[in-house]
Amino acid sequence: MSKPWPSALASGWHPLAYEAELGSRPLARSLMGVPIVLFRSGAEAAALLDRCPHRNVPLSCGKVREGRIHCAYHGWAFDAAGRCRQVPGTDAVPDVAAHRLSVREVAGLVWCSLAETPAAFPSLPPELDDPDLHSFWWSLDASRARVLDAIENLLDPAHPHFLHPYLVRRKDARREVRVCFTSDARGGEARYDEAQTRLAWLPRFFEGNRTTAVGRYLAPTIAQLAFEGATGPTLTITVVFTPEDQDRTRPFAHFATPRGLLPEWLKRRLLIAFHAPVLRQDRAALALQAATIERFGEPDFHTGPLDLFGPLIWRLANGLPSPPEKRQLQVWL
Ligand code: FES
Ligand SMILES: [Fe+2]
Repeated sequence: MSKPWPSALASGWHPLAYEAELGSRPLARSLMGVPIVLFRSGAEAAALLDRCPHRNVPLSCGKVREGRIHCAYHGWAFDAAGRCRQVPGTDAVPDVAAHRLSVREVAGLVWCSLAETPAAFPSLPPELDDPDLHSFWWSLDASRARVLDAIENLLDPAHPHFLHPYLVRRKDARREVRVCFTSDARGGEARYDEAQTRLAWLPRFFEGNRTTAVGRYLAPTIAQLAFEGATGPTLTITVVFTPEDQDRTRPFAHFATPRGLLPEWLKRRLLIAFHAPVLRQDRAALALQAATIERFGEPDFHTGPLDLFGPLIWRLANGLPSPPEKRQLQVWL
């Protein structure tokens, strides 16, 4: 039997694709183990369970014609609401529908919810829709990772020295950093006063001198890293994590930078080229973590003082209360 999903994920909204990907062909996706087909019907995005109600062939193997999806097996055609509209070879149309899912197009992404009554749509960080910034989505495949572990990984200040040495952090050059951690029922924020830190070459290249780094968690599945220099924000990375399955996660990663000297296309290329090795290293660690947990049957985590976000992520993803909290701590990064 499949394990239950944390309640905030089960009722939540999750991006499955970029709006631009939704064209003349159906798109097969997976959300929390459920196969879904996305297609465009006129101006609207449609999401149905990826199972033809006739004989259960995946609808994503079919074709989209005039806003309807036509099954590849016997050609039954379904509209955006999932209703069967046509059966080739007969005028009679059975009263049958493919199960339709709630779908929204917001911030360039196609979002779905599996819930009959979905939770309120999440309020998204302003950087996702700020015309004054240079910004882009980095299109990424799903990889082996448990979704809450992937979120914790992005917000974790303790692993880069080991997993991304010299790219992100230098373990031979730690400096004392003051951290202010606040959290409430919507998420949490860690502000790192980094004026004294000696950055590795990747952040130095993109940010110059960093004064502050901020990690943010917006429950249930959004994480953000925001960096600031003396003259204001330098780079903001926002990632929405979609749980495709218990140990498969697809990140939707958004980069935003102030308009500056470099043209947008060049910045995009450089940011992707430089973050690709970091992503590979994180993915390798998350895959090992997921494989180990699977071999032992369940996680057995023990939390340390630098694990600022893990407990908050688990609480909020599971719909548990999280009274407002504020802590200051001294760490070496
Ligand atoms: S299985 Fe889809 S039309 Fe028959
Ligand atoms: Fe990392």
